[in-house]
Amino acid sequence: MCGIIGYIGKKEAQPILIKGLERLEYRGYDSLGICLQKNNKLHILKKKGRVEDFKRLPLLANIQGNLGIGHTRWATHGVPSQLNAHPHTDCHQNIAIVHNGIIENYQLLKNVLIKEGHKIVSQTDSEIIVHLIEKFYHGDLEEAVLKTVNLLEGTFGLAIMHKDKNNIIAVRRGSPLAIGIGRGEMFLASDVSAMLEHTRQVVYLKDNQMAVIRRNSFQIKNLDGQKAEKEIKMIKWNLDQIEKSGYKHFMEKEIFEQPETIKDLLRGKIKNNTIKLSLNIEPERIKRIIITACGTSWHAALVGKYFIEHFARIPVVVDYASEFRYRNPIINEGDLVVGISQSGETADTLEAIREAKKKGAATLGIINVVGSTISQAVDSGIFIHAGPEIGVASTKAFTAQLTSLLLFALYLAQGNNLKIEKALILELKQLPNQIKESLANHKEIKALAKQFYKSKGFFFLARGVNTPIALEGALKLKEISYIPAEGYPAGEMKHGPIALIDKDFPTLFLAPRSATLNKIISNMQEIKARKGETIIVTNDPKRLKRLSHSVVEVPLTSEWISPIINTMPVQLLAYYIADLKGCNIDKPRNLAKSVTVE
Ligand code: AGP
Ligand code: GLU
Repeated sequence: MCGIIGYIGKKEAQPILIKGLERLEYRGYDSLGICLQKNNKLHILKKKGRVEDFKRLPLLANIQGNLGIGHTRWATHGVPSQLNAHPHTDCHQNIAIVHNGIIENYQLLKNVLIKEGHKIVSQTDSEIIVHLIEKFYHGDLEEAVLKTVNLLEGTFGLAIMHKDKNNIIAVRRGSPLAIGIGRGEMFLASDVSAMLEHTRQVVYLKDNQMAVIRRNSFQIKNLDGQKAEKEIKMIKWNLDQIEKSGYKHFMEKEIFEQPETIKDLLRGKIKNNTIKLSLNIEPERIKRIIITACGTSWHAALVGKYFIEHFARIPVVVDYASEFRYRNPIINEGDLVVGISQSGETADTLEAIREAKKKGAATLGIINVVGSTISQAVDSGIFIHAGPEIGVASTKAFTAQLTSLLLFALYLAQGNNLKIEKALILELKQLPNQIKESLANHKEIKALAKQFYKSKGFFFLARGVNTPIALEGALKLKEISYIPAEGYPAGEMKHGPIALIDKDFPTLFLAPRSATLNKIISNMQEIKARKGETIIVTNDPKRLKRLSHSVVEVPLTSEWISPIINTMPVQLLAYYIADLKGCNIDKPRNLAKSVTVE
């Protein structure tokens, strides 16, 4: 996810581009750049860091022109750096592009371009796009762009400009782009927040469409060359609503983004029923895995233990990073230490990884932020591509971690020649749709929040691979609504915690079809016998509806997919309860998005 902005008109483009990038920073903010056209030359300025740093660059004064594009980056390929920042140009700085998305087949195309003599200077997937345009350009930029995009696999929102052309070309496949219509000027942006102060008349490009944008006009074509209709919309939202895509909080937006983020994560990871992860580890040499993390990422680690031990039959130890790093941990030959971190900056997790490396362990990261300190500290890594997570309470990163751990477990299994059920691979491919279906009962969960938001406390109970989701549900609730909440293995209730149960202390059960469903039903009876209220999240509502007035149905999936599906209701319940309590959901009291202190 990143922010793209473009302008063509009578005014100086630079301030418009920079202001637009400020509006788009929530979409990605590790580096940025602009390109302006003046006297048939392209003038480019790029920098690692935020817009506020960029604005202080003295060289900015030399960057002028009435036509330009800009980009604020959320790195997926290549660390955040000036070199990897967009815009990228061809070998002779005649053409410049900015890109939002992931080009899956970039390595193959890059190898061909290098063989043909192109000088590719960055580590990004994006740069190959402009060299392909250069390769196909013989005077007709549109034709060169069409030939290029038809070679690309993956997602792209593109803005392209040429030093001699009085237009901006925009192409969309999987990443948003909108044209803003002005008087004698036109705008282009990833979302309309960047154009709102100039115009409320926009045209949203559709997938597989290309637009040629001039000062007083624009044409839209489909990628097969056919002319496309312009559907002009009037924007009624205010800026805040646009940044949150109309949701009330970033957390709500990020909860509902999960079908998309999981789709992005899975892209290119499953080919012919085989898991494709580019990791420099040898599964057959791994004798034990230690997963270390904090908070929600630690809950993901607990689920990862179930996945890896079930599918790859490799023993897994899970440890809080803040404990592991001080325990003088025993590291043996064949140990792999995995650090899970959304931010990639959590001090305890970073130090735990460093401690493991000091003791000779091979290390692997499961990380969201490319170029983060932990991603640079580990020997190998899986990036979860969840995009910027603005809400302090982690949601879309968590399910991306779970999905990455499942892929990793299956990768280890296939590396050890263990059988992977084709049905499971099929379910994995269906996961975005299943998540969407699990989010569909949000109204029902909102009603339950109304019923329970005054509770003095909450239990979350589950068994097996769903137990960590019970812990996660409790953490979500307590960190944004400040209601005391505990997650437990359901079997543990009778060993003390059940003393807390009364009519104001409800229990949420995660109870999917599984070998232990009968046991969890007994636990439900024990709670009911003590006047405890229950909420049951299940994919077997017929069987359980006699046990509670509040049964939330989720899609029927295999046990191994169910933790990801069951995460939706617990995230939504926490969100709606906190909203009813009027809490500061995106910035809860006492919390920080990334705990870089020990
Ligand atoms: C999650 O909702 C919390 N905000 C917190 O527990 C977080 O998961 C933890 O601080 C770890 O952060 P990381 O994943 O960035 O390392
Ligand atoms: N994949 C491109 C890069 O890593 C674009 C990332 C983005 O969408 O910001 O530079």
